[in-house]
Amino acid sequence: MQNTTYDFGLVGLGVMGRNFILNVADHDYTAFGYDLDPEKVSALIKEGGDKARVNASGDISSFVTSLSLPRKIMLLVPAGKIVDAVIESLLPYLSPDDIIIDGGNSFFTDTDRREAYLQSKGIHFFGAGVSGGAEGARKGPSIMPGGSRAAYKEVQPIFEAVAAKFNNEPCVAYMGPKSAGNYVKMVHNGIEYGLMQLTSEFYDLLQKGGQLNNNELHKVYTEWNKGDLQSFLVEISAKIFEKKDNLGQGQLVDKILDKAKQKGTGKWTSQNAMDIGIPIPTIDIAVSMREISALKQERVLASKKYERRTIDLEKKQILIEKAEKAMFFAFIITYAQGMHQLREASREYGYELRLASIAKIWRAGCIIRASLLEDIAKAFEEDKDLANLLLAPSFVLKIQDSVGAARELVAYAAENGIPMPGLFNSLSYFDAYTSERLPLNLVQAQRDYFGSHTYERTDREGIFHTDWS
Ligand code: 6PG
Repeated sequence: MQNTTYDFGLVGLGVMGRNFILNVADHDYTAFGYDLDPEKVSALIKEGGDKARVNASGDISSFVTSLSLPRKIMLLVPAGKIVDAVIESLLPYLSPDDIIIDGGNSFFTDTDRREAYLQSKGIHFFGAGVSGGAEGARKGPSIMPGGSRAAYKEVQPIFEAVAAKFNNEPCVAYMGPKSAGNYVKMVHNGIEYGLMQLTSEFYDLLQKGGQLNNNELHKVYTEWNKGDLQSFLVEISAKIFEKKDNLGQGQLVDKILDKAKQKGTGKWTSQNAMDIGIPIPTIDIAVSMREISALKQERVLASKKYERRTIDLEKKQILIEKAEKAMFFAFIITYAQGMHQLREASREYGYELRLASIAKIWRAGCIIRASLLEDIAKAFEEDKDLANLLLAPSFVLKIQDSVGAARELVAYAAENGIPMPGLFNSLSYFDAYTSERLPLNLVQAQRDYFGSHTYERTDREGIFHTDWS
């Protein structure tokens, strides 16, 4: 007799999907998986052990009919056309009020389109960003669901059970209507790009400016991870530095080709920030750096054309201390830019985002988890209308304490030709954002000069145009 009472269905039994479904089953919910690949189906059945708790099939009809009503079906498949194809294949078997949740990194406008399409068919659909990689999926991810609140309520107990916990609070919260969940996850990934760029350029700085070897880098990042910089990305960097290469001598990190790939979420964050008019230059440059890294052949050629002067070595300990502060400064700026984008997107798209709640569910489970998020959550709890993190009193103090080190290292890196665009851009963003007056009056004058685009004045109301010639 077939068990028809599975609580949760999952489509896509790759590593993420398999781990997520096993996590669900660990929390007293029964779950059923579906994948076209028979090997993935048997792998899950084998790992799940008890078929009454975890089962799977490669047959869509038995998958759908095995789920209790309203069906809760989560998709963990690559973003794009596959999501639409899976939805189409499910549709003939669904009943009114069933719920489909897209747990992938789908582009937010795709989620809006799918929600409207499925609503016309009586099916609920919402996007839920899931962060934490394979381990997070298995042991507790951070989950960012959006869409219909009523549909989310049906899934809420399951998500709260499987999500990572921070001080016993689940790292999942309803983000807001429509594609709010996917949007928040997109910006999460933009911040992820920024922090990854920063952790890698400080590695470059310590290697070139202080001649630290991998063992020393391991120690430094391990120490940093006990202080202000405590974060998942600093923690795993420390571990990466000490990983031995099992195909050769030394540490693996030295053998990895310096060309970074990307799936698009960082680029989307930058593109959309431009669309809604919010500056996020640290994230933008992190995307550009992946692009520059991909131009390996050209870089090799160019490196031969331009001589680099020998680098002035810094005293290790002093460099390490300054680097810790400067990286902390740039981490703050990266989060500040991401939160600023979320704030504006909330207004633009009607997401009703609560920034404190977002910072809270990022405190554990996700890739950008960091102790700093506790302070970010507090800052937005104290002032939910805070325009920018840089205006929060507690952050003014943190910045005042760290900006000096950032300036010194920007100067040092520039002098010695060490590319640190994440730090440079963070500092310039800070200097611009905190400038009462910027030279953009000249830009306005130029626009009016060549294109009669008009300008406003500082001393009287109105719109003006001058015949400059
Ligand atoms: C996460 C990650 C995850 C994925 C990135 C990788 O939060 O768990 O962000 O979603 O690993 O999207 O992105 P790139 O391939 O673009 O680096």
